[in-house]
Amino acid sequence: MQAPNPWPVAVLASGRGSNLQALHQASLLGGLPIRIVGVFSDKPDSGAIAYAHRHGIPHRAFAAKAYPSREAFDQALMTAVAEIQPELIICAGYMRIISDAGIALAPCPMINIHPSLLPLYPGLHTHARAIAEGRKEHGASVHLVNNILDGGRVLSQAKVPVLAGDSPERLAERVLSREYPLLIETVRSIISGRITLNNSPQAQVLYLHDDNSRLD
Ligand code: GRF
Repeated sequence: MQAPNPWPVAVLASGRGSNLQALHQASLLGGLPIRIVGVFSDKPDSGAIAYAHRHGIPHRAFAAKAYPSREAFDQALMTAVAEIQPELIICAGYMRIISDAGIALAPCPMINIHPSLLPLYPGLHTHARAIAEGRKEHGASVHLVNNILDGGRVLSQAKVPVLAGDSPERLAERVLSREYPLLIETVRSIISGRITLNNSPQAQVLYLHDDNSRLD
């Protein structure tokens, strides 16, 4: 069955929601053929939930303390996500680890944006770790979500230089400015079929051009 056009997508976010905003604005102005049909968060006070509220996007926040276990939390989350029938789930700064049970309940493929050139630096503090190890290059990756933390197949990456004297904050800003076009172009390529979401070992990582224009 063909996916509807625009694609209905769910966004999971825990933080300020700037990647959510980039996706939403691209869907409104930039010709990205998605409709954000739900925003879900583990942080009721997050910027992402506030953004969804301001823009009339259906949203739900789940407080972890209301659930007896990670699995129970994820079951509630994924049940709500399934209700809106997305074709794709985009984790855009979703900081809570999803249990195996939660991943198994996901109603469609799920992708995540991570601020490092995976497989380097899964997990937290990626910018500080890249600086501490003297890397000349750093960046962001979009990958399939599976039950290994930041370990699913890498779909696309954008690189930035690490400059002399960089602080983790300055480097994070440089990476973030490339995360938005990376995520948008990756979703565009998934919808066009250029990026496939199976686990083919032959599939290549696509790189975002320096001018943010497209993936190659
Ligand atoms: C981004 O750097 C994302 O890669 C990471 O968390 C940050 C989220 O930023 N996982 P925002 O909430 O989209 O502004």
